[in-house]
Amino acid sequence: MLCFLVCLCMQEIWCHIHSLMPMQAAAQAACVSRSFLHSWRCYPNLTFSRGIQCRNVNAHEADEIATNLTTKVDRSLVKHTGSMKKLKLEFYNCNVKACDLDRWLQIGVTPAIEELTVWLSWDRKKYKFPWPLLSNGSGNSIRYLNLSNCAFRPTVRLGLRSLTKLCLCDVLITGDELSCLLDNAFVLEQLSLQRCSKIISLKIPSWLRQLSDLEVFECERLQAMEIEAQYLSKITFAAVNELGQLSFGKALQLKILELYYYDAVCYARAELPSIFPSLESLTIFSWSEMASAPMVPSKFSYLKHLSVVFPAGSLSPTYDHCSLISFFDASPSLETFSLQVVPIGAKHPSIFADPSGLRKMREHRHDKLKNVKIVGFSTSKSLVELTCHILESTTSLEYLTLDTTDGHSPPRCSSVHRLGKCFPIDRDVILEAHRALLAIRTYIQGIVPSKVKFTVGKPCSHCHAV
Ligand SMILES: *[C@@H]1O[C@H](CO)[C@@H](O)[C@H](O)[C@H]1NC(C)=O
Ligand SMILES: *[C@@H]1O[C@H](CO)[C@@H](O)[C@H](O)[C@H]1NC(C)=O
Ligand SMILES: *[C@@H]1O[C@H](CO)[C@@H](O)[C@H](O)[C@H]1NC(C)=O
Ligand SMILES: *[C@@H]1O[C@H](CO)[C@@H](O)[C@H](O)[C@H]1NC(C)=O
Repeated sequence: MLCFLVCLCMQEIWCHIHSLMPMQAAAQAACVSRSFLHSWRCYPNLTFSRGIQCRNVNAHEADEIATNLTTKVDRSLVKHTGSMKKLKLEFYNCNVKACDLDRWLQIGVTPAIEELTVWLSWDRKKYKFPWPLLSNGSGNSIRYLNLSNCAFRPTVRLGLRSLTKLCLCDVLITGDELSCLLDNAFVLEQLSLQRCSKIISLKIPSWLRQLSDLEVFECERLQAMEIEAQYLSKITFAAVNELGQLSFGKALQLKILELYYYDAVCYARAELPSIFPSLESLTIFSWSEMASAPMVPSKFSYLKHLSVVFPAGSLSPTYDHCSLISFFDASPSLETFSLQVVPIGAKHPSIFADPSGLRKMREHRHDKLKNVKIVGFSTSKSLVELTCHILESTTSLEYLTLDTTDGHSPPRCSSVHRLGKCFPIDRDVILEAHRALLAIRTYIQGIVPSKVKFTVGKPCSHCHAV
């Protein structure tokens, strides 16, 4: 009896030592030692990952790699009869067969599994995830499920009672099937749906009371969204098309929003104050911005952090950056403002081309704003005017950063990559950056109060001198 207990105890110790080793070493140890072979069975986390090596190989080689990989995974998994906690199958550019994946999942998905990742490369005939493995209570232990490039089409309610984090990326699943998946997922905290192209209507039910973080990213056919989960604190939302009905419903407590959308700045200014009255942090990424942000009376009473990103090609040369002042006026609590633009080259009305004086904006005091950063600062006249307005109306300002590069300015000259060579940048862009430096010296430097820490980002003097 005592001997049995000692053995059991030793085995637990082996298991414990083994579980602390990285997987590769653990697998090797299992080959050389009987004790380790035994404890390999209780090794908790298995990751099988193959990717880069499969690139740039011909079809024959790819098949051979897949066959070798299959043999390897089979060997490890079949020996692993114990209950694993974490299984990650991550195969890019490898022709792993569906029947093999099925077999591995059958071994791995036991009533003890807590984390499951199946991350595959893009394939037109998507792998059909064997969802019955998770039904009838056998998925009850799963806390984290992360799937990509497969079809997940449950026909019964799954009830993953421990699920806290779900990520579906390029997964074929409809809104109704998602409901089946989420049924009983009462403790779900994070839900991420990326490019799930079969979802047309998305409903986030009110009983997901723990859900705090929702990401809906480029689900291209999504037309209607209805959010009833009340306790969401963060939403990341990216739309590729116009949305028919966008109802954020009862997410009144929402504090953080990241919005990727067309005319997102305009939409945000006009609509968001009434939808999310508690918003504290707003990031707006505008695919294209046609009109100026409207001047409307609604307020972002609690907004502290505002970040606006205009990627390349999103702005017309005549875009009036000063319309962003509408946000300052609406946000009495605003502390940080960051603007990132891609300089439109010489196409915009430049401060140097237009000799008429700078516009005077409507007088308004901003007495909370402390930190302002503009990346992609150019000679655009309205951008210079915006900066002057901020300096003249913000008594509380502590930091001002104007970066004439795309954000990668020295002292960390990231223009020099590992081999010591400079990244090529269009000569036009470098010239515009140097003109922008001149605009800063001419119009801005002189009016920066001495208490403000003023930083200017310049092109790398080594790589991008004129
Ligand atoms: C196994 O995964 C769990 C959960 O992610 C983690 O806490 C633990 O450190 C991992 N163990 C090993 C040996 O990688
Ligand atoms: C596959 O495994 C065989 C035998 O171990 C080996 O000779 C061959 O080089 C492997 N092929 C690839 C592409 O890794
Ligand atoms: C679940 O269990 C029921 C009853 O035990 C059985 O009839 C059904 O086929 C099972 N469903 C799946 C998907 O395994
Ligand atoms: C899902 O898994 C992929 C591949 O391992 C990883 O890059 C990604 O960050 C994971 N997603 C989440 C939300 O954990």
